[in-house]
Amino acid sequence: MALPYAEVIGDPIAHSKSPKIHGFWLKALGIEAEYRATHVLPEALPAYFTERKADPDWRGCNITVPHKIAALEHVEDREDVRTSIGATNTAFRDADGALVGTNTDAAGFAAPLARFDLTGKPVTVIGAGGAGRAVLYALAGIGVGPVTLFNRDVEKATALLSSFGLAGQALPIEQAVPPSALVVNATSLGMTGQPPLDLDLSALPEDAVVYDIVYAPLETGLLAAARARGLAKIDGLEMLIGQAAVAFERFFGVVPPRKRDGELRDILL
Ligand code: ATR
Repeated sequence: MALPYAEVIGDPIAHSKSPKIHGFWLKALGIEAEYRATHVLPEALPAYFTERKADPDWRGCNITVPHKIAALEHVEDREDVRTSIGATNTAFRDADGALVGTNTDAAGFAAPLARFDLTGKPVTVIGAGGAGRAVLYALAGIGVGPVTLFNRDVEKATALLSSFGLAGQALPIEQAVPPSALVVNATSLGMTGQPPLDLDLSALPEDAVVYDIVYAPLETGLLAAARARGLAKIDGLEMLIGQAAVAFERFFGVVPPRKRDGELRDILL
């Protein structure tokens, strides 16, 4: 019999870091299974899910660009990700054999924040796109205080805040970040090849946390500014590994060994 397997699907897919992350945990745990990268074109997505549903060795998949929204048509939405985050990044076989879509981005984002007390505290988020939705959903779950949402498209950002029941206001991306316990970049600004994100962090209190979901480069301009101010920082690799950990458990039924994150990060850099 063939080995059980999970995979990441996307178009393009060659640069995905998911095979390295899941492969590291499979090896660490001695699980006899594979994790692959599979190139799936948009027009091939329906056939992909039909085939995998019939494949007893398939444990599930991570779903990346451009399939995160389209994949919702092919999975059972048992966790209501369509109305919350609006996209699925992980599909897996549920206990009763159903093909279920979930979204591990919000949990992956929230995991490193568990070491801080953010309840009722003001937060600033930059970005109201797909990643911004997962971030705001997670922040609503944590019960943060008012949210200042910086976005180029202010109308879209205002609608998003109210859809998550978050108090606060949407503003165009401004240089000066208001006093906040947490600042999150949920755009691709600052990523290699993208425009920079230049923000003035001088109004932040000394115990503020600055979180960038971008992981290439690992130290973005925003995180460099946080370091210059001596603030706590969380980089994009933490979210990347965090969302993968939640998916891994769904695929293989085992919690991955997070004590070895340092080693894993070295492999990913
Ligand atoms: P993702 O899934 O990465 O969030 P997305 O849904 O396309 O991708 O969202 C991109 C986010 O980055 C949005 O918040 C977008 O702002 P708009 O909603 O105003 O479009 C923001 N963004 C992308 N490029 C930008 C740029 N050059 N300047 C400012 N904001 C930008």
